[in-house]
Amino acid sequence: MKNQSNMKPTRLTDSFGRVIQDLRISVTDRCNFRCFYCMPKEAMEWQPKAEILSYEEIIRLTEVFVELGITKLRVTGGEPMLRRDLETLIARLGALDQVEDLAMTTNANFLSGRAKGLREAGLKRITISLDSLTPDRFALLTGRKNFSEVLAGIDAAIEAGLSPVKVNCVVIRHINEDQVINFAEFAREKGVHVRFIEFMPLDNGKVWRRDMVVPGDELREMIHQRYPLDRVQSGNASETARRWRFADGTPGEIGFINPVTQPFCGHCSRIRLTADGMIRTCLFSAVEHNIKALLRSGASRDELIGFIVATVNQKEDRHHINDPEFIQPLRTMSCIGG
Ligand code: GTP
Ligand code: 5AD
Ligand code: SF4
Repeated sequence: MKNQSNMKPTRLTDSFGRVIQDLRISVTDRCNFRCFYCMPKEAMEWQPKAEILSYEEIIRLTEVFVELGITKLRVTGGEPMLRRDLETLIARLGALDQVEDLAMTTNANFLSGRAKGLREAGLKRITISLDSLTPDRFALLTGRKNFSEVLAGIDAAIEAGLSPVKVNCVVIRHINEDQVINFAEFAREKGVHVRFIEFMPLDNGKVWRRDMVVPGDELREMIHQRYPLDRVQSGNASETARRWRFADGTPGEIGFINPVTQPFCGHCSRIRLTADGMIRTCLFSAVEHNIKALLRSGASRDELIGFIVATVNQKEDRHHINDPEFIQPLRTMSCIGG
């Protein structure tokens, strides 16, 4: 990338006019769970430590992104809480000027003892991945028996005021669709936001098939018959979830993230930084942009800005899951950052 010195920071806009305001930072590709829609059961090859961005490097890059108008940060993984002293990174990200929102996605396995500390470090809200509400099905889906730890983590997040606490549930035909009403009841009991996500072809085992996707509208109808729902208008066009509240006024929310049946690419405001220092402009990108190499070569702020601006300019218009020529990305969600 050539040096574009004296470049004035601008708002990051892609070639389709979408403003990029949302940076998702994966801090590790490792995870202690083996959710079948994401990681394979057999041993994963983790990235060598030297390839993973240090906290210093993450902060340096995020400072530049923030200068360019990013206001919303999400820390993801793999499982971000496997990274040592995550609280120190959270504190430094939260202290950056212009950062309005700082969230994290986690499997909650290690959350119960750390939710309060994360909140104190500056984390504003949290999203917990949970696809089953019974211990045996949980074990089947994650390959682990830590169901009670996850439930304790959710309670600790609520207690710590990481509000709103969101629970993400990937629904897969014949595997967990029967638990959808239980999840709606969980939202009502705990006052959390449960979001149902359509299974996307990002799984390591390459088991995805279209008939495994349960359309969000089908789930909404199912819940609505039991617990009538009213639409929540958020006013934020780039939001992934279509949101609903309970018509009877019970706290809690239900959301549907329908990337397969109702793609939301037209309003996408997201960009991703992988744990090994690649920028991904789309979840389904076929190419990655190696900002780590530039950073480690001693690049100036202007050079980093030039690289980011040029990269965002190449952001894809949309995913092609629904096109016959669709090719699944080589890297899975655990590497890209959920
Ligand atoms: P908030 O609404 O701000 O809490 O964040 P979010 O909607 O981005 O939610 P979250 O980070 O919890 O993402 C939820 C899920 O939506 C992810 O795990 C993905 O399955 C899916 N998702 C998130 N971002 C994208 C995206 O850019 N494209 C697609 N196709 N799916 C996405
Ligand atoms: N399809 C949809 N969502 C996925 N996630 C991971 N893999 C997939 C997939 N194949 C999401 C889940 C998980 C988060 C980390 O990433 O929401 O909770
Ligand atoms: Fe954005 Fe790509 Fe996700 Fe579409 S699939 S919403 S373009 S990241």
